Amino acid sequence: MAKKLFIKTYGCQMNVYDSARMADVLAPHGYGMTETPEGADMVILNTCHIREKAAEKVYSELGRLRLHKQAKEETGERMIIAVAGCVAQAEGEEIIRRAACVDMVFGPQTYHRLPEMIERANRAVGAKVVDTDFPAEDKFDFLPNHVTNPGVTAFLSIQEGCDKFCSFCVVPYTRGAEQSRSVAAIEAEAIRLVDAGVREITLLGQNVNAYHGAGPDGGEWGLGPLIERLASRGVQRIRYTTSHPRDMDDALIAAHRDVPQLMPYLHLPVQSGSDRILAMMNRKHTADNYRRIVERIRNARPDIALSSDFIVGFPGETDRDFADTLRLISDIGYAQAYSFKYSARPGTPAAAEDSHVAEAVKEDRLATVQQLLRAQQTAFNEAYRGARMSVLFDRPGRHPGQLAGRTQYLQAVHADAPTRLIGAVVDCDIVDIRTTSLKGVVDIVEPDHNQPSQDRLGPQTERAIA
Ligand code: SAH
Ligand code: SF4
Ligand code: F3S
Repeated sequence: MAKKLFIKTYGCQMNVYDSARMADVLAPHGYGMTETPEGADMVILNTCHIREKAAEKVYSELGRLRLHKQAKEETGERMIIAVAGCVAQAEGEEIIRRAACVDMVFGPQTYHRLPEMIERANRAVGAKVVDTDFPAEDKFDFLPNHVTNPGVTAFLSIQEGCDKFCSFCVVPYTRGAEQSRSVAAIEAEAIRLVDAGVREITLLGQNVNAYHGAGPDGGEWGLGPLIERLASRGVQRIRYTTSHPRDMDDALIAAHRDVPQLMPYLHLPVQSGSDRILAMMNRKHTADNYRRIVERIRNARPDIALSSDFIVGFPGETDRDFADTLRLISDIGYAQAYSFKYSARPGTPAAAEDSHVAEAVKEDRLATVQQLLRAQQTAFNEAYRGARMSVLFDRPGRHPGQLAGRTQYLQAVHADAPTRLIGAVVDCDIVDIRTTSLKGVVDIVEPDHNQPSQDRLGPQTERAIA
């Protein structure tokens, strides 16, 4: 009988990718995905360590899972609880000391060993398995080739880890040193995804534009040439995330000009607009460096939509530093962005600073920055009211008869449209702007009842789909 696997994912897209791959690893061993932890044979929490809140969520979830585990044990069956991902990597065995219901702890680089770990956990009641190695072997060489239900859009990890060591960030410790997969391996995975019906691939890396993988010509390839290669392999839409400003090289910027499949959207975190804070963050760029990079990108692709991450209340941040951040945001004009209160993370250099900003000040600055960013997002979206945009529908919408998708600029769109348009890029007239999504109208010609039934698309839409 099929065993039930429940995975809960926290944190970034790389964790989303990893969770999907864990399911792929376990599928041949009889595990099928289930929607709730109740009654599951195996529960994996794929965790995030980036901010304190993210890490603490895991322990409250484990408190709830303990009860499900007890209930399962009362029926004479076993539930294996595993903590994976970045909290697992950072805290290791400590997790089992804090939460005794945990059977297994493994990091982002060892999940290809899951079947073997399960075997070890099953050998004795109460056996605990901890695997937080950074192994010599490359997990990608051991992951299965099949993809389980990939959908219309998919993530593809091309690079992992980070060598930048921003002073606030745990990623270099939880994910390890920067490593790029080969062009051939990425290409093969992309082709498998396309063959399985995927239309849009988002290339992932903690520092994705630092990509430097072995190319088919024996040389080292950067992200720009890789994107060009994938565009020639039938990927209809390409995106990538997350980038560091210092790694926006000429070839990548040129790809934004030359490769139509590369979507005009870029998440380019800057963190702060103050040079003093940027230096303390060890970001290795100034606010003006960032302005110039954006200018070069906009010269190559004038309509590009920009996104960013901001941290407010970094240790030592003054009102003046914060004003510099607001000024940078006003200068750039973002389509959308994320902002966070600084959270001191164990083991990072910034956590040892003694000039921590008061919580109330952080709250205040966060509210101010979010208000400005929201206003920019609204202005960006409003500019497309009445416009015709190309939308990739990727799933049913919330209401019956509705589909949901994304524009080239990653704006969410809802429109009434038939299910068969899932997976199609369709021209949509934008008729209304909501806070976080756009309302679109698709031209659909009513079915001609004298013809064999099957609704047809209007000529306009048919062209758009091609
Ligand atoms: N690799 C990406 C970001 C990874 S983490 C980059 O280079 O920008 C995602 C975002 O979380 C970061 O951009 C940063 O804004 C935020 N973040 C990271 N560490 C944080 C911390 N200690 N406190 C608050 N926010 C943090
Ligand atoms: Fe963290 Fe900086 Fe690396 Fe991004 S570039 S993952 S913020 S250390
Ligand atoms: Fe979180 Fe790890 Fe991603 S810390 S943001 S899950 S790399």
